[in-house]
Amino acid sequence: MAFLIPPRRAIRDAFPYQPGKSIASVQRELGLKSVVKLASNENPLGSAPRALAAYRRAEKLNALYPEGASPELRAALARHHGVAAESVIVGNGSDEIIRLLCEAFLEPDDEVVVSQHAFIRFKQQASMMGARVIETPMTDWTHDLALMAKATSPRTKLLFVANPNNPTGTFNTQDEIEGLLDAAPKTALVVLDEAYWHYARRIAGYPKSLPELAARHENLVVLRTFSKAYGLAGLRVGYGVGDPELIGWLDRIRMPFNVSLPAQQACVEALKDEAFVKRSVALNQAQREFVVRALGDLGFGVGESATNFVFVRAPLPGRELFKALLRQGVIVRPLDEYGLPQHVRISIGTAAQNKALLSGLKQILAVPA
Ligand SMILES: Cc1ncc(COP(=O)(O)O)c(C=O)c1O
Repeated sequence: MAFLIPPRRAIRDAFPYQPGKSIASVQRELGLKSVVKLASNENPLGSAPRALAAYRRAEKLNALYPEGASPELRAALARHHGVAAESVIVGNGSDEIIRLLCEAFLEPDDEVVVSQHAFIRFKQQASMMGARVIETPMTDWTHDLALMAKATSPRTKLLFVANPNNPTGTFNTQDEIEGLLDAAPKTALVVLDEAYWHYARRIAGYPKSLPELAARHENLVVLRTFSKAYGLAGLRVGYGVGDPELIGWLDRIRMPFNVSLPAQQACVEALKDEAFVKRSVALNQAQREFVVRALGDLGFGVGESATNFVFVRAPLPGRELFKALLRQGVIVRPLDEYGLPQHVRISIGTAAQNKALLSGLKQILAVPA
């Protein structure tokens, strides 16, 4: 029997997100015991301990529905960032906020401006709403915000900027972001996705978005996540900070109970776990320097990174390198879906994980250990 009900036109053309391969699937498929995953920019130290303790305490409340608007976490985030609670929305990952923004603002044929090689969820989600996605070229593997501003029109509803960007690892400066905010039409919302903020915040020129830029521009929304420096990717919590009216629209259309109660309570405590974040960022910095040097010694082209991963040009097609590394028990991320068949993205792991990566690469390139 044939299925006779077509989905919306925009959905027919949708291309799904391809997540990093899981450890369990590689163990199953290749019969390997020990597998190292450096494919999804997770925290190799695990989760913030204070968050885990709160998560366990919350277990007892699992028979009850959570409060849908995550009020305690919202208030904690507002205090943390020096903004009003009405300016904050908590989502099932920052990914949910990307989705809500597209659902709230995009009519078919509205325009969305993104950079080439920007985090792919922006154009995926915008296309699913039937919007027209305009992609501008990068300059030096970085979002070219002057070109993005030029690409806007009265039909532009959203501009997405991942800062730093995944997968290129590059960032835009405060001056560049302010230039975009000045040049873009006030009828277009600028979405500044700062998933990797903790790793970039101390770099000279990196923008001070919260609370400063957000307070001055009502057409700016800033996204952050608990998935990276707090080590809570599996809990699925991210948030957006912006104009209370904008936040009100997103709040109206989110799922009624979009964030579980243990997740809400864990994230309130995660915000207090500065020691864990500091340790995570320091490990990342030291190990990234080691990995960049070692990859360079092996002849790979490695970009400057403001994140917890590196963007690597391989001497063989990225997918081939990905497959060869899988056989060595190391998962990295090929970037064909980003139109980058010659590159891979490699998350920074612990010292032991990074050593496993390098010894796998040496095997593949037949370099003596
Ligand atoms: C730039 C960027 N934005 C958003 C996300 C989604 O994060 P979350 O886990 O909060 O949905 C990611 C995840 O890798 C990312 O790289």
